[in-house]
Amino acid sequence: MPYRRTTLSRYIIEEQRRLDRGAELIALVNDIQTACKYVANAVAKGALTGAQGGTGQVNVQGEEVRPLDLIANDIVLGSCEWGGHLAGMASEEMEALHPIPPQHPRGRFLLVFDPLDGSSNLDINMTVGTIFSVLRAPEGVAEPKVEHFLQPGTQQVCAGYALYGPSAMMVLTLGNGVHGFTLDPAIGAYLLTHPNLTIPADTQEFAVNASNQRFWEPPVRRYVEECVAGRSGVRGKDFNMRWIASMVAEVHRILMRGGLFMYPRDTKDPAKPGRLRLLYEANPMAWLVEQAGGAASTGRERLLDVQPIALHQRVPVILGSRNEVERLDRYHAAYDRGEDQPFFSPLFKERSLYFGAA
Ligand code: F6P
Repeated sequence: MPYRRTTLSRYIIEEQRRLDRGAELIALVNDIQTACKYVANAVAKGALTGAQGGTGQVNVQGEEVRPLDLIANDIVLGSCEWGGHLAGMASEEMEALHPIPPQHPRGRFLLVFDPLDGSSNLDINMTVGTIFSVLRAPEGVAEPKVEHFLQPGTQQVCAGYALYGPSAMMVLTLGNGVHGFTLDPAIGAYLLTHPNLTIPADTQEFAVNASNQRFWEPPVRRYVEECVAGRSGVRGKDFNMRWIASMVAEVHRILMRGGLFMYPRDTKDPAKPGRLRLLYEANPMAWLVEQAGGAASTGRERLLDVQPIALHQRVPVILGSRNEVERLDRYHAAYDRGEDQPFFSPLFKERSLYFGAA
């Protein structure tokens, strides 16, 4: 009976009682879910909105802005700024912080978000999502500045994403496991459908944009070559590869059935240490993955321990099934120690830098 199911609203209220979470955080999560329902509705209309194609603008990341990026950004700002729970907001779509308008009360939290991740998929009607992370504003700070947002991922108090796919979902953590809710459009509520998500430690599936192969560092090339070599290589088993080009969709797949996702450091643009943004993409996803028993790393450091130095900072991301992430960490460490040896790669028809399993 659907009315016996746990709604997201009920879940967060019960969490508040059980874990003694402040009512303010719970009310903020409620505002976030409202925002995501509005965005889900806008995305679901697809080409009917007449908002396909580009806007002719590029955002702070140098990426083309789609009309729905701006609509989603405005929805999140408008849904979350009035409630009195936030001291400030930051978005992928805005170079500067978004202060709380003076007519609204201030709260104790900071919200960082990517309003529409993977938006290059919009024109082809593929899965996109909203990613969010909630931090505490430092004590006594009512007008937060950028430096107050520069907190490592370990400081998050809530993180999650809304997925706009064949069905719309919200997946979140308050630090007590990862739970997935499916939007029932008939009643306009997210219902708990995927409690206590866990990521298996092992996997035979990986996701990476292989067109960047020539820009990767040797440990990543080694890992992918070994996966592609499959049963006949050092891994002794076949792997499958996926690439949706939408981080929300990739992380969702990993939370559903395991796998490895990476957008590693590359030399494509030496000014950028990675593709994905630390505060509103990597950190919330890393916390979700860790909460589900997986691991998330830059290859050289636990992602959640990275001390941010800029609001829109990029970072290498490797996350998913624990044993694969740890393998990549070992490969990076071996490479950094200079322990790799040259060998001939039959896959890429060139000399490569590594040899054997770590
Ligand atoms: O925001 C960045 C993003 O769209 C991610 O969602 C996705 O994983 C990645 O970029 C796709 O990158 P590429 O265009 O290189 O495939």
